[in-house]
Amino acid sequence: MFKGVLFDLDGVITDTAEYHYHAWKKLAEDLDITIDREFNETLKGVSREDSLTLILKHGGKEDSISAEKFAQLAKEKNENYVEMIQAFSEKDIFPGILQLLKDLKANEIKIALASASKNGPMLLEKMGIANYFDAIVDPASLAAGKPAPDIFIEAAKAIGVSSKECIGLEDSIAGITAIKESGSFPIGVGNATDLGHDIVLVDNTSTLTFAFLEEKWSENHD
Ligand code: BG6
Ligand code: MG
Repeated sequence: MFKGVLFDLDGVITDTAEYHYHAWKKLAEDLDITIDREFNETLKGVSREDSLTLILKHGGKEDSISAEKFAQLAKEKNENYVEMIQAFSEKDIFPGILQLLKDLKANEIKIALASASKNGPMLLEKMGIANYFDAIVDPASLAAGKPAPDIFIEAAKAIGVSSKECIGLEDSIAGITAIKESGSFPIGVGNATDLGHDIVLVDNTSTLTFAFLEEKWSENHD
């Protein structure tokens, strides 16, 4: 049986992936860069700074932005995003997630947050679920962000469980790649075109029950 579950946040626990997209789209438009949902898949799970670099490259503007302007743009995007999520509360938790957290606790499974977002702890507080988490990895403490495995390796370490005994929940291809590399068992929230045909997928978080996790784990482990 698995002993730990490592949660991504944006797009797994709540719909903030959508707000990140809107905030990036607005910032890109101000710079005369067009981004669409397909391009946005490459931003999911990726840190604020790396996302901005990808957007500037996409628009062919990476060389025309000074370090100072870069920092200002990243700040602007974040301020816009934070404004969008001010009113978040328990009602914004995706279907099934609160029950899953409760069932994991009742079954003494350790829970960690492995989100690239520096806004993660604040969002968990707003939704009233911070107390379910045994550990929250600080993304600023890592040498490399997703798709590097570091954040999932650190998350497993922080709850004292071997990576091999953890499930990782993700909605991004960067995150799925990171989970695979870390040695944990990935479950993707999304479709096979975006996340791959070789992993367990759900199209909706309401499928992520404790029984479902147990079933998929035992189907894939001896
Ligand atoms: C990830 C999101 O969880 O966090 C990305 O999928 C986001 O879209 C990244 O860029 C960093 O978030 P923040 O809140 O630190 O800008
Ligand atoms: Mg995500």
